[in-house]
Amino acid sequence: MTQITDDLRTLADDMLATMYNAPGIGLAAPQVGVLSRLLVMDCVKDEAAKPRPMVLVNPEVVWASEERSTYEEGCLSIPEQFGEVERPAQVRVRWTGLDGDAMEEQFEGIWATCVQHEIDHLDGKLFIDYLKPLRRQMITRKMVKLKREMARGAD
Ligand code: NI
Repeated sequence: MTQITDDLRTLADDMLATMYNAPGIGLAAPQVGVLSRLLVMDCVKDEAAKPRPMVLVNPEVVWASEERSTYEEGCLSIPEQFGEVERPAQVRVRWTGLDGDAMEEQFEGIWATCVQHEIDHLDGKLFIDYLKPLRRQMITRKMVKLKREMARGAD
């Protein structure tokens, strides 16, 4: 049983705004410095199509397909870096909605990749953790350099 508070609703609204603004297709609470098991996503790509903002509280994967698919993933926490990650092609996810209702849905395609990427964030895992050590080291080094440059620019 998950308690949905006004704070959680406000957080979800703020995170959706941040995600659309970036622009990105998913964002997890730890990425904005909040240790809540909450993520937002909207993988509708066609700009003419109706957006589908989703908020998942306490999401968990209850089934994953044996079939795998590979996407080139990126992350708002690791700007301008991308890597091919292989994951289950379909997953069934259970979560609590913002109205407190238990929800369950099967995702595929980019939605399946996105929801797994965001759930990983809740467990402190990043997409670069799936990459080969050399590629991961290269990205990590670039990020350290970028952070140093940003810190320098800030003062
Ligand atoms: Ni990410």
